[in-house]
Amino acid sequence: MSNATLEKRYALITGGSHGIGLQMAHELAKRGYHLLLVALHTDGLLALPETFEQKYQVEVRVLGLDLTDEHAVDQVYEWYQQMGVRLNILINNAGFGYLGRFDSYSISFFNKLMKLNVIAMVNLTRRFIEDLKGQDKAYVMNVGSIASYYDAPYKSVYAASKKFVYSFSRSLRVELLPFNISVSVLTPAGVLTNENTIKASKELSWAARLVTYTPQEVAAKAIDNMLRERAVIIPGAFNKFYIAMRKVLPYGLVMHMMSRQFSKKNLSIYDPSRLGVD
Ligand SMILES: NC(=O)c1ccc[n+]([C@@H]2O[C@H](COP(=O)([O-])OP(=O)(O)OC[C@H]3O[C@@H](n4cnc5c(N)ncnc54)[C@H](OP(=O)(O)O)[C@@H]3O)[C@@H](O)[C@H]2O)c1
Repeated sequence: MSNATLEKRYALITGGSHGIGLQMAHELAKRGYHLLLVALHTDGLLALPETFEQKYQVEVRVLGLDLTDEHAVDQVYEWYQQMGVRLNILINNAGFGYLGRFDSYSISFFNKLMKLNVIAMVNLTRRFIEDLKGQDKAYVMNVGSIASYYDAPYKSVYAASKKFVYSFSRSLRVELLPFNISVSVLTPAGVLTNENTIKASKELSWAARLVTYTPQEVAAKAIDNMLRERAVIIPGAFNKFYIAMRKVLPYGLVMHMMSRQFSKKNLSIYDPSRLGVD
């Protein structure tokens, strides 16, 4: 490994081709980080190296694969090792949610969700931990959700997965502090990224729309606060207010309000076909 390669700082972002992940890639590139971007579909990644190299003069490598496949995490690690670079930042961002009755989604849909939101995050972190320990300073950021704080009828499996993300991140943070690795968890509410979240934002109440932000806004806050070594990153004042309210409002009332909101008859059920699952 040449000295020039060792001096470069690299960040790996899962789900780096779209939405919050793509905007976090922009934020890191602005700060001079070179990027390793992983996503499901290769076509969404192909133009990114040239775009980023021209705009920010940083190096970008891309890998398209399904992180829920059995050997995907090993494949990511082998791809990384072949490059001969060192990782400073790991961002476990790839994930997805849904809206609707538990019995309106298939078992394979829920398995995919749990494998991506939970298992891929833990496995990638475990795979890269020794490399991160080898750095003077390193960062891990896992993407949770406002659902990390609330139980959420009609989003039950998603909310449970994001509670796992939150708890895992906060516990691991304490373990990794002696190694100069800062672990953060990002907990956004609605972010206007894909067609599902844009549709849902139109269909939900004005109160839900208050906590809806653009991916650019969320990514800028996320990267700033991650580099400041914040444990929990809540983008937006309204989000902070909503999260604080859970300690004040009666639990039954909150569940009633959420049920009414998320079980509206005219709400669209998410189309999971893009994720390659029924
Ligand atoms: N949007 C929101 O309202 C919101 C709110 C709170 C938390 N979050 C969380 O924020 C994170 C990012 O969400 P987003 O809305 O920005 O996502 P998004 O715009 O839908 O993009 C998802 C990214 O993940 C990749 N991906 C999906 N399935 C994958 C798989 N099986 N293997 C590898 N990569 C995969 C996608 O690749 P392709 O583009 O190639 O498909 C894409 O790059 C998620 O963890 C989500 O739960 C989102």
